[in-house]
Amino acid sequence: MQNMACKVAGVHFKNPIVMASGTFGFGKEYAKLYDINRLGGISGKGLTLAPKAGNPGVRVWETPSGMLNSVGLENPGIEYFLKEETPYWETLDTARIVNLGGGCIEDYRIGAELITAHEKRLREGGRCSIDIIELNISCPNVKEGGIAYGVQTETARAVVREVRQATSLPLVVKLSPNAENIVEMAYMCEVEGADGISLINTISGMKIDTRLRKSVFHNLYAGLSGPAIKPIALRMVHQVAQHVKIPIMGMGGITTANDVIEFIMAGASVIQIGTYNFMNPRAGEQMADGILKWMEQEKIVSMDEIRGIL
Ligand SMILES: Cc1cc2nc3c(=O)[nH]c(=O)nc-3n(C[C@H](O)[C@H](O)[C@H](O)COP(=O)(O)O)c2cc1C
Repeated sequence: MQNMACKVAGVHFKNPIVMASGTFGFGKEYAKLYDINRLGGISGKGLTLAPKAGNPGVRVWETPSGMLNSVGLENPGIEYFLKEETPYWETLDTARIVNLGGGCIEDYRIGAELITAHEKRLREGGRCSIDIIELNISCPNVKEGGIAYGVQTETARAVVREVRQATSLPLVVKLSPNAENIVEMAYMCEVEGADGISLINTISGMKIDTRLRKSVFHNLYAGLSGPAIKPIALRMVHQVAQHVKIPIMGMGGITTANDVIEFIMAGASVIQIGTYNFMNPRAGEQMADGILKWMEQEKIVSMDEIRGIL
């Protein structure tokens, strides 16, 4: 009997398919299309302490094999999320990941404290709504602060240290492919007490409007995602997997069950699907089916048989 389940940061994932932050809202819209409890997990839209309106102007641009986005972390804020969205998350039977962004260390710390206190109160009453905090130190579209944390190992380290002290919840740190040295950064996150690493976020890119002779994006650059980045993401997951002991959530351009298997062979424990959700909103359940079929064909009983085999 095939078993797709695995554990990340002590949390049970029934299969390796997780929906990536910023591409799945908080799940409600997709739940109208299929039973999202079939997924291994979901990562909600990135949250910041105060609500954010996001970037002005053009926010997304399609490229031949992916997309550029400059959403700028538009979100309703942590307190709104805890009050209005977690009652729905309480009803879900899938791993629930809060994606936490910020402009400075203090923001990250206070955000983590609010989330942890909320969850502690719920759990005292025998309920729960959040399984993991995914620390987004890598958003390339937030001007102040955001990028620096994801690029320099020392600043990333400082954020992780502060947030680790602020939460007892499992902590996964999401890294930027724009990091100076992604392997070193992942290792330092592990040293500072992270329970897992997720990678990669979008890669900094650009699109020029030749008629206007300027970038189509207000912030000049935007984040590239989708199939174009898959080979880079796969290579980074493989490199990081060689140097950390904590589990990895791999992502970047995944569109098929075979892509998922590649990431697991490169060393990921679970994967996340982002941009492809916009092309195929039922991608999650279809890929879970596809992996099961592949395991049956290959006579593989557990994902452990192929994880990190390269
Ligand atoms: C429109 C959009 C919004 C995103 N918002 C977030 C976010 O709020 N927090 C975050 O950590 N990553 C965010 N991401 C990055 C994705 O979660 C993912 O890391 C990236 O897109 C690579 O995966 P993909 O190629 O499968 O899309 C966003 C990506 C897109 C396309």
